[in-house]
Amino acid sequence: MFSSLKTEISGSVFTITINRPDKLNALNQSVMSELDQALDIFLQNDNLRGAILRGEGEKAFAAGADIQEFSGLDAASGQALSEKGQRLFFKIENSPKPIIAAVNGFALGGGCELAMACHLRVASTNALFGQPEVKLGLLPGYGGTQRLVQLIGKGKATEYLLTADMINAEKALEWGLVNHVTTRLELVDKCLEILAKIAKQGPLAVRYTLQAISDGVNGRDGYKTEAELFGKAIVSEDAAEGTAAFLEKRKANFQGK
Ligand code: COA
Repeated sequence: MFSSLKTEISGSVFTITINRPDKLNALNQSVMSELDQALDIFLQNDNLRGAILRGEGEKAFAAGADIQEFSGLDAASGQALSEKGQRLFFKIENSPKPIIAAVNGFALGGGCELAMACHLRVASTNALFGQPEVKLGLLPGYGGTQRLVQLIGKGKATEYLLTADMINAEKALEWGLVNHVTTRLELVDKCLEILAKIAKQGPLAVRYTLQAISDGVNGRDGYKTEAELFGKAIVSEDAAEGTAAFLEKRKANFQGK
């Protein structure tokens, strides 16, 4: 079905693997449009509760936008390329179900931006993050100037955006760019463990929490969203079930309503 991606369903988890290992999984337009389609499959299937996004091979999650596709762009088509990528990455960030980036090796440029658009990041010990666009005389175009600042703070982000230095797994963990670091072999299992924990919680509450976070970091009034969604959550069947289960000392059986 896809030429640049592999997808797999295992229980309630959808795994999307960028599959251009010979090009270090560089994000060409085929990968970008297939990612969009794969996301739709994930978002439209209510049986899927979480997703893992990874890169094929041992060297890279994704080494950036495909530099070969930059030639021939003019100001308008360059801006359009950036806006299209931003829309796709917002779709990931605004997903009502958690998406975890499993970062093995290079996550550079658009690859770093893709990982940062995911809700959580788990990295293997050989992971290297960075925004090297300045080396090419460019700046990030898929949200890197914003999300790196959100994740590691303005001072450090500015330095790394301007020097093109790479951030190794140890620093990424210390600075909150990634949530966990594991060996390469344990990477996917760690993501599955986190998704399994989230899947036990009220699905409506998970969705509302992701929405409030996303609104807050994207220029909308996150406090207002939080209050509105709290109001909706408190009258939901999930909250009735969750609170009853607590009082009855049993496991909640959430329906996501
Ligand atoms: N776009 C297009 N092709 C890319 C790419 C990218 N962003 N990143 C890597 N590739 C390709 C290389 O051209 C090479 O293809 P080839 O074998 O047909 O020549 C292949 O992937 C392997 O990359 P290579 O550079 O040989 O691997 P390396 O281990 O020597 O270096 C990197 C790895 C990540 C340091 C290096 O590939 C690199 O700097 N990539 C570009 C990173 C970047 O600037 N990203 C931001 C883009 S806006």
